[in-house]
Amino acid sequence: MNAAEQRDPVTDWRLRGELDGLKLYRAFEAGSSWIWIYRPESGSGPGVVVKKLVSGAVDSHAAQREFGMLSLLEQQFSRFADLHVPHPITHFGDQRAVLTREIMGDRVDRLFVKTLRRIRLPSPSSRRKAASVCDLIGRWIRALHDSVDIELLGLPMALGRSLHDRYDAARHRLADLRLSPGHLVPAFDAYFSRLIEDQGTARPVLCHPDFTPHNMIVAVGGLYVLDVSEIAYGHPLEDVAFFWAHLEALRLSGLYERNRIAQYQKRFLGAAIGTSALPNFWERWGVLMRLSYLSRSWEHAGKLRGINLFRRNMARRSLQRWLLSQPWDVSLHGE
Ligand SMILES: Nc1ncnc2c1ncn2[C@@H]1O[C@H](COP(=O)(O)OP(=O)(O)OP(=O)(O)O)[C@@H](O)[C@H]1O
Ligand SMILES: [Mg+2]
Repeated sequence: MNAAEQRDPVTDWRLRGELDGLKLYRAFEAGSSWIWIYRPESGSGPGVVVKKLVSGAVDSHAAQREFGMLSLLEQQFSRFADLHVPHPITHFGDQRAVLTREIMGDRVDRLFVKTLRRIRLPSPSSRRKAASVCDLIGRWIRALHDSVDIELLGLPMALGRSLHDRYDAARHRLADLRLSPGHLVPAFDAYFSRLIEDQGTARPVLCHPDFTPHNMIVAVGGLYVLDVSEIAYGHPLEDVAFFWAHLEALRLSGLYERNRIAQYQKRFLGAAIGTSALPNFWERWGVLMRLSYLSRSWEHAGKLRGINLFRRNMARRSLQRWLLSQPWDVSLHGE
Protein backbone atom coordinates (compact mmCIF):
# COMPACT_ATOMS: atom_id res chain seq x y z
CA MET A 1 0.00 0.00 0.00
CA ASN A 2 1.46 3.40 -0.94
CA ALA A 3 1.30 6.58 1.14
CA ALA A 4 -1.70 7.98 -0.76
CA GLU A 5 -3.66 4.79 -0.24
CA GLN A 6 -2.96 4.85 3.47
CA ARG A 7 -4.69 8.14 4.06
CA ASP A 8 -8.06 9.02 2.57
CA PRO A 9 -8.66 12.82 2.81
CA VAL A 10 -12.44 12.33 2.97
CA THR A 11 -11.89 11.81 6.67
CA ASP A 12 -11.06 15.51 6.91
CA TRP A 13 -14.29 17.42 7.53
CA ARG A 14 -13.25 20.38 5.36
CA LEU A 15 -13.02 18.24 2.25
CA ARG A 16 -16.14 16.26 2.98
CA GLY A 17 -18.66 18.63 1.39
CA GLU A 18 -16.89 18.61 -1.96
CA LEU A 19 -16.80 14.87 -2.06
CA ASP A 20 -20.40 14.16 -1.03
CA GLY A 21 -21.94 11.35 -3.02
CA LEU A 22 -18.57 10.33 -4.40
CA LYS A 23 -16.50 7.31 -3.49
CA LEU A 24 -12.77 6.74 -3.68
CA TYR A 25 -11.93 5.20 -7.03
CA ARG A 26 -8.12 5.35 -7.09
CA ALA A 27 -5.23 6.66 -4.95
CA PHE A 28 -1.61 6.91 -5.95
CA GLU A 29 1.62 8.81 -5.38
CA ALA A 30 2.70 11.14 -8.19
CA GLY A 31 6.00 13.03 -8.54
CA SER A 32 5.43 15.75 -5.97
CA SER A 33 1.94 14.94 -4.73
CA TRP A 34 -0.56 12.34 -3.62
CA ILE A 35 -3.59 11.94 -5.83
CA TRP A 36 -7.05 10.68 -4.87
CA ILE A 37 -9.71 10.27 -7.54
CA TYR A 38 -13.33 10.20 -6.39
CA ARG A 39 -16.13 9.18 -8.71
CA PRO A 40 -19.91 9.12 -8.43
CA GLU A 41 -21.30 6.09 -6.59
CA SER A 42 -22.47 4.72 -9.94
CA GLY A 43 -18.77 4.25 -10.77
CA SER A 44 -18.81 6.25 -13.98
CA GLY A 45 -16.94 9.54 -14.15
CA PRO A 46 -16.06 12.29 -14.35
CA GLY A 47 -15.27 12.64 -10.70
CA VAL A 48 -13.13 14.91 -8.57
CA VAL A 49 -9.33 14.76 -8.27
CA VAL A 50 -7.74 15.73 -4.95
CA LYS A 51 -4.08 16.64 -5.36
CA LYS A 52 -2.15 17.06 -2.15
CA LEU A 53 1.28 18.58 -2.60
CA VAL A 54 3.72 16.70 -0.41
CA SER A 55 7.17 17.30 -1.84
CA GLY A 56 9.62 18.81 0.66
CA ALA A 57 10.22 21.77 -1.64
CA VAL A 58 6.53 22.74 -1.76
CA ASP A 59 5.65 25.87 0.25
CA SER A 60 2.34 26.48 2.00
CA HIS A 61 1.09 28.76 -0.82
CA ALA A 62 1.59 26.13 -3.52
CA ALA A 63 -2.03 24.92 -3.49
CA GLN A 64 -3.34 28.48 -3.68
CA ARG A 65 -0.90 29.24 -6.50
CA GLU A 66 -1.97 26.19 -8.46
CA PHE A 67 -5.66 27.00 -7.93
CA GLY A 68 -5.16 30.67 -8.91
CA MET A 69 -3.18 29.80 -12.04
CA LEU A 70 -5.78 27.20 -13.10
CA SER A 71 -8.51 29.84 -12.73
CA LEU A 72 -6.60 32.43 -14.77
CA LEU A 73 -5.70 29.96 -17.48
CA GLU A 74 -9.21 28.56 -17.69
CA GLN A 75 -10.39 32.09 -18.48
CA GLN A 76 -7.59 32.72 -20.89
CA PHE A 77 -8.09 29.43 -22.77
CA SER A 78 -11.87 29.82 -22.97
CA ARG A 79 -11.38 31.38 -26.42
CA PHE A 80 -10.16 27.99 -27.73
CA ALA A 81 -12.61 25.11 -28.05
CA ASP A 82 -9.96 22.39 -27.74
CA LEU A 83 -7.25 23.78 -25.42
CA HIS A 84 -7.80 23.48 -21.67
CA VAL A 85 -6.57 23.17 -18.13
CA PRO A 86 -8.37 21.04 -15.51
CA HIS A 87 -11.35 22.90 -14.08
CA PRO A 88 -10.40 24.10 -10.56
CA ILE A 89 -13.04 23.38 -7.89
CA THR A 90 -11.44 24.64 -4.68
CA HIS A 91 -8.23 24.57 -2.67
CA PHE A 92 -7.28 24.08 0.98
CA GLY A 93 -4.07 26.01 1.53
CA ASP A 94 -3.38 24.67 5.01
CA GLN A 95 -3.57 21.16 3.65
CA ARG A 96 -1.80 21.97 0.40
CA ALA A 97 -4.69 20.39 -1.47
CA VAL A 98 -6.25 21.41 -4.80
CA LEU A 99 -9.45 19.86 -6.12
CA THR A 100 -10.06 19.70 -9.87
CA ARG A 101 -12.67 18.07 -12.06
CA GLU A 102 -11.46 14.73 -13.35
CA ILE A 103 -10.51 14.60 -17.03
CA MET A 104 -11.50 11.35 -18.66
CA GLY A 105 -8.94 10.63 -21.37
CA ASP A 106 -5.51 9.25 -22.34
CA ARG A 107 -2.29 10.55 -20.87
CA VAL A 108 -0.13 11.72 -23.77
CA ASP A 109 3.02 9.84 -22.68
CA ARG A 110 1.07 6.58 -22.81
CA LEU A 111 -0.54 7.50 -26.12
CA PHE A 112 2.90 8.13 -27.66
CA VAL A 113 4.34 4.86 -26.36
CA LYS A 114 1.32 2.95 -27.64
CA THR A 115 1.33 4.47 -31.09
CA LEU A 116 5.07 4.75 -31.70
CA ARG A 117 6.62 1.49 -30.55
CA ARG A 118 8.01 -0.68 -33.31
CA ILE A 119 6.57 -3.93 -32.09
CA ARG A 120 2.81 -4.39 -32.30
CA LEU A 121 1.56 -1.97 -34.91
CA PRO A 122 -1.13 0.44 -33.71
CA SER A 123 -4.25 1.11 -35.73
CA PRO A 124 -4.13 3.91 -38.34
CA SER A 125 -6.78 5.81 -36.39
CA SER A 126 -4.76 5.85 -33.15
CA ARG A 127 -1.76 7.04 -35.16
CA ARG A 128 -3.75 9.85 -36.67
CA LYS A 129 -4.95 10.77 -33.21
CA ALA A 130 -1.38 10.86 -31.81
CA ALA A 131 -0.15 12.97 -34.73
CA SER A 132 -2.98 15.47 -34.36
CA VAL A 133 -2.27 15.66 -30.61
CA CYS A 134 1.14 17.11 -31.55
CA ASP A 135 -0.65 20.02 -33.24
CA LEU A 136 -2.79 20.54 -30.16
CA ILE A 137 0.27 20.52 -27.89
CA GLY A 138 2.01 23.06 -30.12
CA ARG A 139 -1.09 25.27 -30.15
CA TRP A 140 -1.45 25.00 -26.37
CA ILE A 141 2.05 26.28 -25.71
CA ARG A 142 1.65 29.00 -28.30
CA ALA A 143 -1.57 30.08 -26.56
CA LEU A 144 0.27 30.23 -23.22
CA HIS A 145 3.04 32.33 -24.77
CA ASP A 146 0.43 34.64 -26.29
CA SER A 147 -1.49 35.04 -23.01
CA VAL A 148 -1.71 38.74 -22.43
CA ASP A 149 -3.97 39.22 -19.43
CA ILE A 150 -1.98 37.16 -16.98
CA GLU A 151 0.38 39.20 -14.88
CA LEU A 152 2.61 37.30 -12.53
CA LEU A 153 3.72 38.89 -9.32
CA GLY A 154 7.01 40.66 -9.64
CA LEU A 155 8.92 41.66 -12.70
CA PRO A 156 10.34 39.01 -14.97
CA MET A 157 13.93 38.31 -14.07
CA ALA A 158 16.40 39.31 -16.79
CA LEU A 159 16.23 36.46 -19.26
CA GLY A 160 19.97 35.94 -19.62
CA ARG A 161 20.29 35.66 -15.84
CA SER A 162 17.44 33.18 -15.46
CA LEU A 163 18.82 31.01 -18.28
CA HIS A 164 22.22 31.01 -16.58
CA ASP A 165 20.60 29.96 -13.28
CA ARG A 166 18.66 27.17 -14.93
CA TYR A 167 21.71 25.96 -16.78
CA ASP A 168 23.78 25.90 -13.57
CA ALA A 169 21.11 23.97 -11.66
CA ALA A 170 20.80 21.37 -14.42
CA ARG A 171 24.52 21.00 -14.87
CA HIS A 172 25.15 20.58 -11.15
CA ARG A 173 22.46 17.96 -10.88
CA LEU A 174 24.09 16.02 -13.69
CA ALA A 175 27.56 16.44 -12.19
CA ASP A 176 26.36 15.41 -8.70
CA LEU A 177 24.90 12.27 -10.12
CA ARG A 178 27.99 11.77 -12.28
CA LEU A 179 25.85 11.66 -15.37
CA SER A 180 27.93 14.01 -17.46
CA PRO A 181 31.46 12.90 -18.19
CA GLY A 182 33.85 15.15 -16.31
CA HIS A 183 36.00 16.02 -19.30
CA LEU A 184 33.03 17.43 -21.19
CA VAL A 185 31.72 19.74 -18.48
CA PRO A 186 34.16 22.56 -19.34
CA ALA A 187 33.05 22.30 -22.97
CA PHE A 188 29.35 22.50 -22.02
CA ASP A 189 30.12 25.43 -19.74
CA ALA A 190 32.02 27.34 -22.40
CA TYR A 191 29.31 26.74 -24.98
CA PHE A 192 26.35 27.67 -22.83
CA SER A 193 27.90 30.58 -20.95
CA ARG A 194 28.92 32.17 -24.23
CA LEU A 195 25.69 31.56 -26.15
CA ILE A 196 23.12 32.14 -23.38
CA GLU A 197 23.92 35.84 -23.61
CA ASP A 198 22.74 35.86 -27.23
CA GLN A 199 19.38 34.37 -26.23
CA GLY A 200 18.82 36.86 -23.43
CA THR A 201 17.52 39.56 -25.75
CA ALA A 202 14.26 37.72 -26.58
CA ARG A 203 10.95 38.94 -25.15
CA PRO A 204 10.12 36.87 -22.03
CA VAL A 205 6.84 34.94 -22.17
CA LEU A 206 4.95 32.73 -19.72
CA CYS A 207 6.54 29.27 -19.79
CA HIS A 208 5.40 25.94 -18.40
CA PRO A 209 8.56 24.54 -16.84
CA ASP A 210 7.20 20.99 -16.76
CA PHE A 211 5.86 20.85 -20.31
CA THR A 212 6.08 17.14 -20.70
CA PRO A 213 3.65 14.46 -22.01
CA HIS A 214 2.91 13.00 -18.60
CA ASN A 215 1.37 16.34 -17.66
CA MET A 216 -1.01 16.20 -20.62
CA ILE A 217 -4.30 14.40 -21.09
CA VAL A 218 -6.13 14.19 -24.39
CA ALA A 219 -9.89 13.84 -24.02
CA VAL A 220 -12.97 14.18 -26.20
CA GLY A 221 -12.96 17.96 -25.69
CA GLY A 222 -9.29 18.42 -26.67
CA LEU A 223 -5.99 18.76 -24.80
CA TYR A 224 -5.65 19.41 -21.05
CA VAL A 225 -2.31 20.44 -19.58
CA LEU A 226 -1.82 19.86 -15.83
CA ASP A 227 0.64 21.04 -13.23
CA VAL A 228 0.50 24.77 -13.87
CA SER A 229 1.66 26.06 -10.48
CA GLU A 230 5.24 26.75 -11.57
CA ILE A 231 4.42 28.77 -14.67
CA ALA A 232 6.84 31.70 -14.82
CA TYR A 233 8.51 34.05 -17.26
CA GLY A 234 11.10 32.51 -19.54
CA HIS A 235 12.45 32.31 -23.07
CA PRO A 236 9.84 31.39 -25.73
CA LEU A 237 11.86 28.35 -26.80
CA GLU A 238 12.54 26.86 -23.34
CA ASP A 239 9.41 24.75 -22.95
CA VAL A 240 9.25 24.10 -26.70
CA ALA A 241 12.79 22.65 -26.61
CA PHE A 242 11.96 20.62 -23.50
CA PHE A 243 8.99 18.96 -25.19
CA TRP A 244 10.88 18.44 -28.46
CA ALA A 245 13.66 16.70 -26.49
CA HIS A 246 11.15 14.24 -25.02
CA LEU A 247 10.31 13.12 -28.56
CA GLU A 248 14.01 13.18 -29.45
CA ALA A 249 14.77 10.74 -26.62
CA LEU A 250 12.11 8.38 -28.00
CA ARG A 251 13.50 8.82 -31.51
CA LEU A 252 17.06 8.03 -30.45
CA SER A 253 16.22 5.06 -28.26
CA GLY A 254 15.67 2.61 -31.11
CA LEU A 255 12.46 1.25 -29.55
CA TYR A 256 10.13 3.51 -31.48
CA GLU A 257 9.46 4.46 -35.08
CA ARG A 258 12.05 7.08 -35.91
CA ASN A 259 10.49 8.56 -39.03
CA ARG A 260 7.14 8.94 -37.43
CA ILE A 261 8.64 10.69 -34.41
CA ALA A 262 10.48 13.09 -36.71
CA GLN A 263 7.09 13.91 -38.27
CA TYR A 264 5.58 14.46 -34.82
CA GLN A 265 8.43 16.81 -33.92
CA LYS A 266 7.81 18.81 -37.09
CA ARG A 267 4.09 19.03 -36.48
CA PHE A 268 4.65 20.13 -32.92
CA LEU A 269 7.21 22.79 -33.87
CA GLY A 270 5.06 23.99 -36.77
CA ALA A 271 2.10 24.58 -34.47
CA ALA A 272 4.17 26.02 -31.62
CA ILE A 273 6.60 28.34 -33.38
CA GLY A 274 5.85 28.09 -37.10
CA THR A 275 9.14 26.41 -38.10
CA SER A 276 10.07 22.77 -38.64
CA ALA A 277 13.37 22.73 -36.73
CA LEU A 278 14.92 24.23 -33.61
CA PRO A 279 18.18 26.21 -33.64
CA ASN A 280 21.17 24.06 -32.54
CA PHE A 281 21.45 25.91 -29.27
CA TRP A 282 17.88 25.07 -28.30
CA GLU A 283 18.18 21.41 -29.30
CA ARG A 284 21.15 21.12 -26.95
CA TRP A 285 19.40 23.07 -24.24
CA GLY A 286 16.33 20.83 -24.49
CA VAL A 287 18.40 17.64 -24.39
CA LEU A 288 20.46 18.82 -21.42
CA MET A 289 17.34 19.89 -19.50
CA ARG A 290 15.59 16.65 -20.31
CA LEU A 291 18.58 14.66 -19.11
CA SER A 292 18.67 16.66 -15.91
CA TYR A 293 14.91 16.16 -15.48
CA LEU A 294 15.24 12.39 -15.90
CA SER A 295 18.00 12.47 -13.33
CA ARG A 296 15.77 14.32 -10.91
CA SER A 297 13.12 11.70 -11.30
CA TRP A 298 15.91 9.22 -10.93
CA GLU A 299 16.21 10.32 -7.33
CA HIS A 300 12.66 9.00 -6.87
CA ALA A 301 13.53 5.81 -8.68
CA GLY A 302 12.06 3.76 -5.86
CA LYS A 303 8.69 4.57 -7.41
CA LEU A 304 9.71 3.40 -10.85
CA ARG A 305 9.78 -0.24 -11.69
CA GLY A 306 9.74 -2.66 -14.59
CA ILE A 307 9.16 -1.27 -18.05
CA ASN A 308 8.99 2.36 -16.85
CA LEU A 309 12.40 2.11 -15.25
CA PHE A 310 13.74 0.42 -18.37
CA ARG A 311 12.33 3.18 -20.61
CA ARG A 312 13.77 5.89 -18.39
CA ASN A 313 17.23 4.32 -18.48
CA MET A 314 16.99 3.99 -22.22
CA ALA A 315 16.01 7.65 -22.66
CA ARG A 316 18.79 8.77 -20.35
CA ARG A 317 21.44 6.77 -22.21
CA SER A 318 20.27 7.97 -25.63
CA LEU A 319 20.32 11.62 -24.59
CA GLN A 320 23.72 11.27 -23.00
CA ARG A 321 25.15 9.66 -26.14
CA TRP A 322 23.63 12.41 -28.25
CA LEU A 323 25.23 15.13 -26.12
CA LEU A 324 28.60 13.41 -26.27
CA SER A 325 28.43 13.22 -30.05
CA GLN A 326 27.97 16.98 -30.51
CA PRO A 327 30.84 19.25 -31.50
CA TRP A 328 31.04 21.71 -28.59
CA ASP A 329 33.28 24.23 -30.25
CA VAL A 330 31.62 27.60 -29.67
CA SER A 331 33.17 29.15 -32.77
CA LEU A 332 31.36 26.59 -34.96
CA HIS A 333 28.01 27.49 -33.49
CA GLY A 334 27.68 31.22 -33.22
CA GLU A 335 23.89 31.54 -33.59
N1 LIG B 1 -7.95 16.67 -13.22
C1 LIG B 1 -7.37 15.49 -13.44
N2 LIG B 1 -8.02 14.51 -14.15
C2 LIG B 1 -7.47 13.32 -14.37
N3 LIG B 1 -6.27 12.95 -13.90
C3 LIG B 1 -5.57 13.83 -13.17
C4 LIG B 1 -6.07 15.15 -12.90
N4 LIG B 1 -5.17 15.81 -12.13
C5 LIG B 1 -4.14 14.94 -11.95
N5 LIG B 1 -4.37 13.75 -12.56
C6 LIG B 1 -3.50 12.56 -12.58
O1 LIG B 1 -2.57 12.66 -11.54
C7 LIG B 1 -1.23 12.68 -12.07
C8 LIG B 1 -0.36 13.63 -11.27
O2 LIG B 1 -0.90 14.94 -11.33
P1 LIG B 1 0.05 16.23 -11.44
O3 LIG B 1 0.88 16.13 -12.65
O4 LIG B 1 -0.80 17.42 -11.31
O5 LIG B 1 0.95 16.04 -10.11
P2 LIG B 1 2.55 16.00 -9.93
O6 LIG B 1 2.81 15.94 -8.49
O7 LIG B 1 3.15 17.06 -10.74
O8 LIG B 1 2.93 14.62 -10.56
P3 LIG B 1 4.07 14.30 -11.64
O9 LIG B 1 5.38 14.74 -11.08
O10 LIG B 1 3.90 12.82 -11.83
O11 LIG B 1 3.70 15.09 -12.87
C9 LIG B 1 -1.39 13.07 -13.53
O12 LIG B 1 -0.35 12.57 -14.34
C10 LIG B 1 -2.72 12.46 -13.89
O13 LIG B 1 -2.55 11.10 -14.23
MG1 LIG C 1 2.73 16.53 -13.13
